[in-house]
Amino acid sequence: MDNYDVQREQAEGSREWIQINLRESLEDGKATEVMIKERVIAVFRHEGGLFAMDGMCAHQGGPISEGQVEHGCVTCPWHGWQYELDTGIQTINRQPLQETFQIRESDGKLEILI
Ligand code: FES
Repeated sequence: MDNYDVQREQAEGSREWIQINLRESLEDGKATEVMIKERVIAVFRHEGGLFAMDGMCAHQGGPISEGQVEHGCVTCPWHGWQYELDTGIQTINRQPLQETFQIRESDGKLEILI
């Protein structure tokens, strides 16, 4: 998890945009995880979109960034719970169990609102 640098960008209420400088570009279909404010955040690029969610599965803390991603959802590698990337909704019970975060890209740099 040390393939990035973190830089605070701007404040918005109690949240702020945190700039993530990845040492390698995040290609479509790939994921990584970063540590921000003592939280593990999973970052995905999928079908041209960027997504950020809690990197520890709501079930038992599995590594969400290592899950299989398809059709806008990630499947946790430990026991198969599946979440929508953009909402964090668990696809079986339709509850938003996994926290998601706004993410944007500017000049090749990723920024997460957290
Ligand atoms: S820890 Fe993710 S499904 Fe169990």
